[in-house]
Amino acid sequence: MALVALISGRGSNMRALVEAGLPVSAVISNVAGAQGLEFARSRGIATKVLEHRKFASRDAFDAALAAEIDAFAPRLVALAGFMRVLGAAFVQRYEGRLLNIHPALLPSFPGLDTHAKALAAGVKLHGCTVHFVTAEVDHGPIVIQAAVRVRAGDSPESLAARVLAQEHIVYPRAARWFLDGRLLRQNGVVTVKGNDAQLVVSPD
Ligand code: GRF
Repeated sequence: MALVALISGRGSNMRALVEAGLPVSAVISNVAGAQGLEFARSRGIATKVLEHRKFASRDAFDAALAAEIDAFAPRLVALAGFMRVLGAAFVQRYEGRLLNIHPALLPSFPGLDTHAKALAAGVKLHGCTVHFVTAEVDHGPIVIQAAVRVRAGDSPESLAARVLAQEHIVYPRAARWFLDGRLLRQNGVVTVKGNDAQLVVSPD
C-alpha cells in the first residue's frame, strides 16, 4: 500500500498526503535543503536526497532516482512539487502509477507561473489538476480537478493560496482512489469506480 513522494521544496502537498493518513513510506528530494524533508523526518518517514546537479546527465539522474524509489517498492509515486522534468524512460517505468499535481486547470497553463498566466489571460476560473504523468510535461489523464473563482484584485499570490488549499484536498483524494484500486483509465480518460466526484468547486 506504500507511496513514495518526490519533492523539491516546501512539500505542503506531501504533508497533506501524510496528514490525510496516506501510507507515505519515503520522501525523496532533488534539493538538499527542501523544507518538506524536515516535516517528513519529524513524522519518522524515510527521506533521501538525490541532487540532480551531481549527475552528468538527465538519464543518469533518472536511473539513480528510480533505484532509490524501487528500494521502497511503492505502489504509487506521487510528484508533489517536484521541479525536475523526468525523462521518457523514467515515465515509462512508472507508467500508470505516477501522479502529479499541477496548479492550473489543465490543459490550460502547463509549465511554470500558472497563476500569473491565468491572471494575464483574464480567466474567471482557475484551479488545480491531479493527473497521471505521461512523457509530455503537464499532460496526461486527469484524475480530479478543483476550481476556484478568480477575484477582481487577485494577485498571483492570493490566487495561489486559494488554489493551494484545494490542492491539499484533491491530491490525498486522488492518491486514496489509486491505492484503493478505484481508478479506471480508458482512452486517456480516467473515471472512478463508484462515481465519486472528480471535480471540486471551491465556494471561495
Ligand atoms: C504546488 O503548487 C504544486 O501544484 C506545484 O508546485 C507547488 C508545490 O508546493 N507542482 P508544495 O511543495 O507541495 O508546497
